[in-house]
Amino acid sequence: MDAQSVLNEVARQAAVCTRCQLHFARKKAVPGEGPASAEVMLIGEGPGFYENEQGRPFVGAAGKFLDELLAAGGVKREEVFITNVVKCRPPGNRDPLPEELAACSEYLDRQIEALNPRVIVTLGRFSMAKFLPGVRISDVHGQPFWKGGRLVVPMYHPAAALHQPSLKTQVERDFSRLSEFIRQARTSVPKAVESQRSDPETPAPQKDEPTQLSLF
Ligand code: URA
Repeated sequence: MDAQSVLNEVARQAAVCTRCQLHFARKKAVPGEGPASAEVMLIGEGPGFYENEQGRPFVGAAGKFLDELLAAGGVKREEVFITNVVKCRPPGNRDPLPEELAACSEYLDRQIEALNPRVIVTLGRFSMAKFLPGVRISDVHGQPFWKGGRLVVPMYHPAAALHQPSLKTQVERDFSRLSEFIRQARTSVPKAVESQRSDPETPAPQKDEPTQLSLF
């Protein structure tokens, strides 16, 4: 199945998913959006009020700020794929529960495999923990790591940054380096992963331990 077909299939399944309790209050699932050819995938936490209404990620206040951060980083929103670790809104915007994250993780795994992005930007600690478990975001934000042949860049969540001036400055500084990270991933991505990009049948080598880049 090609990447777009996988993304469509995940969206179709998420819309009617009953794997966890989040479906009870769901208006619209938010599977994510962006081109199937995107080199960059952004992963947030979960839909908020407006996302649940519209079925689209990051359309509220945090989304407006994210658009500004992307633009300042030299990247157009239409070029990236944006999704969340949970596809349905946690009531009252509470943190997603471990069982909800576990129930939804297969959708995200399929999206990552289909898209095969060079760069994954995690927004906030829940998406960061998928790639860098046990680390503190305050220790690693803005520092790219190689993981599974991709460059993973942990960033503060735009919503958290909106409410804390010190985080806002940090997240703006980190995002301002986004096109630099993308360029770096284009030039340093391991050859075998490169060949997987043109031949989806070839499995990518998995580097299990994150390696911090000394280049940055
Ligand atoms: N916050 C998120 O983490 N995701 C969204 O889609 C919107 C707000």
